[in-house]
This record gives sequence, C-alpha cells and structure tokens, in this order.
Amino acid sequence: MSNPLLRNVPAHVAIIMDGNGRWANSRGLPRTMGHRKGVEAVREAVRTAGEVGIRYLTLFAFSSENWSRPEAEVSDLMGLLKAFIRRDLADLHQQNVRIRVIGDKTNLRGDILPLLLEAEETTRGNTGITLVIAFNYGSRDEMTRAMRALAIDVAEGHLTADQITPERIASKLDTAGIPDPDLVLRTSGEERLSNFLLWQAAYSELLFIPELWPDFTREVFLAALKTYAGRERRFGGLSQPTMAVGS
Ligand code: IPE
Ligand code: IPE
Ligand code: MG
Repeated sequence: MSNPLLRNVPAHVAIIMDGNGRWANSRGLPRTMGHRKGVEAVREAVRTAGEVGIRYLTLFAFSSENWSRPEAEVSDLMGLLKAFIRRDLADLHQQNVRIRVIGDKTNLRGDILPLLLEAEETTRGNTGITLVIAFNYGSRDEMTRAMRALAIDVAEGHLTADQITPERIASKLDTAGIPDPDLVLRTSGEERLSNFLLWQAAYSELLFIPELWPDFTREVFLAALKTYAGRERRFGGLSQPTMAVGS
C-alpha cells in the first residue's frame, strides 16, 4: 500500500535508533524505561514504513561496540530483543514482513541466536517489506569478515586478487542482496554514523533529526521522508536535466 501523499519514497531507509537513555533521563527514569518505550517506536516505524511503500527498513538495534555498556543494560537490551521477537513475530509474519538479521552471528550466547534464526526462517517467503535487524553489527567487523572470506577464496585458488571487485566485496557483506540505503536517518541530534553501514552508505542521503528515538512517531517519520524527497541525489554525476558540455 503506497501513500499517494508522499512522492519519491526511498526504497531503503536505515535508522540509527538513538536517544533512549536520554529520553529516560530527562524524565528521571532508569535508562531501561527508554529502551522499553523504544520498542513501541520500532513497532510504529515498521507499520509506517510498510504503509508508505518503503521496501527495506534497517534498524540498528545493537552495535558490536554496545557490549561495552554495563552488564545490566546489555542484558536488558537482549531481553527486550528476545521479547520483541517472541511477541511480535507472528504479527510481523501476518503482515507479510520478511526479516533479515545482519551482524556477527557467531559466539552469541544463550537463546538469542535461535530466536533470530527462527525469525528469518519463518518469514523467508514473505513478499512485503523487509525488516533488516542490525544486531551485534559494526561495519568494520562486517568488512573484516568479508575480507577474510575473500582472502580464503584467493588462498584456495577460487579467485585471483584482480577479480576482487566492489560487487564481489558487497556480495560477501552481511547485506548481500539488499540494496544500499537511500536514506540513513539518525535520531537524538548526534551527527555521526557510529560504525553503521559504512560501505553501503557511500551515496546515501544522511539525515540527523533532534527527536529522541522513543519520540519517533509516524508524523516524525513522515516529516523525515518529506525532507528526503526534497534532496537532490547525484551519484557523482550532474543534476537533471543534464547540461550538455559547452552549453
Ligand atoms: C539507543 O539509545 C539504543 C541503543 C544504542 C541500543 P541509547 O541507549 O544509545 O540512548 P542514549 O544515546 O544514551 O540517549
Ligand atoms: C549507535 O548508537 C548504536 C545503536 C543505535 C544500536 P550509540 O548510542 O551506541 O552510538 P554512540 O556511542 O553514541 O556513537
Ligand atoms: Mg546512544
């Protein structure tokens, strides 16, 4: 279902969901309450993205650097992700959402990995929006794993060094088969990528908005999409209509 009020809807939006802790602090609440409220914002964002015709929505849920947070917060975030999958998987499946998980899946402890795999497996055949969950994800880690895989291919003689192309590198990343994001959006006013989709965002539009993630409502999302629609993308070329050289 696409929204006739919106033009130029990006096919792929990737979001750095930031500001849960500040949302809670500003209310005198523990950080965990911000994460809890953040889950509600996730539900609304997935719904809105599906409604307006976005094909891929990537959400940065937990970075490879977030392990350095206090143990209690890490375990709280794990608990929330597990609860989200347990509670929402049937509903997402029913909405025809396809789930993909990016990030390092090795060395995950406990029951998180089976749940992530179940979410991918259950929804594999769905044809609606693809929800890409970035969990234990960091771009440098992803690229390192891809380089190692290529090095093995070369060492085993399946590939020569000059056969390593940008396309081949992309095919070894966790995001293989997923188009690059058209828009990378970060909430909470921070203006950095924090190791998110560094390869894939080469030509993405970047948008940093002040709202904290728990305040990311449908209206805030639609306003961001409106800003995106006004951007001019060039990909190194010239703006349209193309000016003839010498004219
Ligand atoms: C985003 O909110 C959630 C995760 C990083 C998992 P934060 O927890 O980073 O909230 P702030 O940035 O401290 O406000
Ligand atoms: C990025 O937010 C990671 C996620 C949203 C999951 P952080 O809050 O971890 O980023 P920094 O530390 O402020 O750069
Ligand atoms: Mg943060």
